[in-house]
Amino acid sequence: MRTSAVVAGLGSALPPNRVTNDDLTKELDTSDEWITSRTGVRQRFTVPVGMATSDLAVVAAQRALSSSGMTTVEAVVLATSTPDHPCPATAPDVATRLGLAQVAAFDVAAVCAGFVYALATAAGLIESRVVNSALVIGADTFSTILHPQDRTTRVIFGDGAGAVVLRAGNAAIDGALLAFDLGSDGTGRDLITVWGGGARQRSSRIVPAAADLHFAMQGKAVFNRAVQCMGTSVAATVRSVGWDVTDLDLLVAHQANARILRAIGQQLDLDEDQVAVNLDRVGNTVAASIPLALADAVATGRLRPGHHVALAAFGGGLTWGSAVLRWPDIPVAME
Ligand code: UT7
Repeated sequence: MRTSAVVAGLGSALPPNRVTNDDLTKELDTSDEWITSRTGVRQRFTVPVGMATSDLAVVAAQRALSSSGMTTVEAVVLATSTPDHPCPATAPDVATRLGLAQVAAFDVAAVCAGFVYALATAAGLIESRVVNSALVIGADTFSTILHPQDRTTRVIFGDGAGAVVLRAGNAAIDGALLAFDLGSDGTGRDLITVWGGGARQRSSRIVPAAADLHFAMQGKAVFNRAVQCMGTSVAATVRSVGWDVTDLDLLVAHQANARILRAIGQQLDLDEDQVAVNLDRVGNTVAASIPLALADAVATGRLRPGHHVALAAFGGGLTWGSAVLRWPDIPVAME
């Protein structure tokens, strides 16, 4: 039987600053009623001064390692769009701080689809026997790139990190990653952006305006694409392993908006309790969204060993992806 990548550990981390909808109404022209009804978010967590993405990534990774019972891995793949620095990648620093000397370590940038892209990348490294184990971390601190007065983004996004440990096994084992689907559409590149600060502006001798360095999203234009891409991707991945969508015990989709989650559920004909929701408590945490939702689902007993689970993500680029597995019998380590 060919080698498969198997989920062996799960951990998550949230920063200490809890920001409720009422807190935001003191700074922005918004209301708890608008945020709750239009997005489903009730609170989010943000990093305090001086804390960065790697700090959350290290804690989530340590917890995932402790959940797995393993003390070392051979690769660290970090999905993030808010690296500590534009250069170098953040993953080598995370690996070193985890005590993982000289392992393969690199970042994957696919915004909110980053975790599924990183998972597929690490699974590929294991299946092709480049490494025997890997940490896959999704970590972002979007609070550091949002414009303080942008009510359309500040109400949605929160900071966080989640991680899984993968090890080599075979497809018959619970936890084996059975199939992936990944896609992109660069014609939508203007819909989710941090426009300035990159090579395009520098080579054009343009000094970035302050607004160019903040995150911007055309939410309405993205909404329907998110529903359609995640729904179609999940249906394809589920079919590719011989399952039917009705076989799914849980869909863990990117936590962008409660209305998006409901629409995907309707598109796939899933009951409400077949779709994981934790965005009410953490907001949209970008690359951390799926592992945080997985950790929440395990901790609340919603996701149990042997369950058929699909992961689905969608984000800037545009990028999207999905994966399917049977959930393994592992403890979750979280706050
Ligand atoms: O994570 C990566 C992928 N991202 C997504 O999937 C995000 C998808 N999009 C969304 O989740 C939603 O489009 C948003 C939550 C971003 C926005 O919700 P919407 O229902 O699409 O609102 P809208 O942008 O159409 O705005 C409706 C109204 C506007 O006012 P007018 O023009 O009707 O007078 C906005 O100015 O709501 C206003 N508005 C707000 N009002 C109070 C926008 N943001 C706020 C706010 N508080 N925070």
